[in-house]
Formats: sequence, structure tokens, C-alpha cells
Amino acid sequence: MIGRLNHVAIAVRDIAAASALYRDTLGAKVSAPMALPEHGVSVVFVELPNTKIELIEPLGPRSPIAKFLDKHPGGAIHHLCFEVADILAAREQLQRAGTRVLGDGSPKTGAHGKPVLFLNPEDCSGTLIELEQV
Ligand code: CO
Repeated sequence: MIGRLNHVAIAVRDIAAASALYRDTLGAKVSAPMALPEHGVSVVFVELPNTKIELIEPLGPRSPIAKFLDKHPGGAIHHLCFEVADILAAREQLQRAGTRVLGDGSPKTGAHGKPVLFLNPEDCSGTLIELEQV
């Protein structure tokens, strides 16, 4: 069902500092920061030859990432995103297998403008998994 690794998301407190690390120190192509108020985050994309890194910084006091960073003050890997061809078929298959989808279960528009779903980490070996329809 899952295809390519679309991105690895890393939660950070200071997206400018994290961008500088990837751009200046690690020498990667880094996008300008983009605010996504509906997700409570600002994001930067680091383009690698085989995948992307998504740097995410809390936007607003009620950002879901703020709580995550309280537990991981230095920043940490937040989720993995895998591509799927049909997100509703993938959801169906996962729910039949007992994997819970977060939120109301309906796909939202993600940072790339494509439909996304998040799976409950308790059902996924402790990892938050995002599925993105491509
Ligand atoms: Co993501």
C-alpha cells in the first residue's frame, strides 16, 4: 500500500536556525518558511535527491507541535510521511486491520496541497505516520 517516503518531519523551536543548519552547514536546498495556520505550524522544506525533510515550528500557543516540543525541548523527529495512490482505499484497509486514524478520520489538505491522514502512533510502533495521496 505505501509507496515512497515523501518526507521526514522534524519539530524545531527555531525554524530559522534549523534552516541555516540544513542550508549553510549541510548544504541542502531549503525553501522559505510557510505559515500553515490551519495546522498550527510554520514549515520549511529541505529538498534532498531521494526525499524531503520538513522542518516544523509551532505557530500560535495552541499548536499541537508545542506540546511535542515540551517533551522534546531540543527538537525531534515528529513523523514520517509515506505516499499512497488512493488515500480512502488506504484508510479502509487500515481501519479494517484495526489501525486508528487521528482526528475525525477524513483527509485534510497537507503542506503540499494534497490530501493527508495521520495514523495513531499507538497502532504504529510508536511512530506518527502521515499518508499523503500523490
Ligand atoms: Co508531514
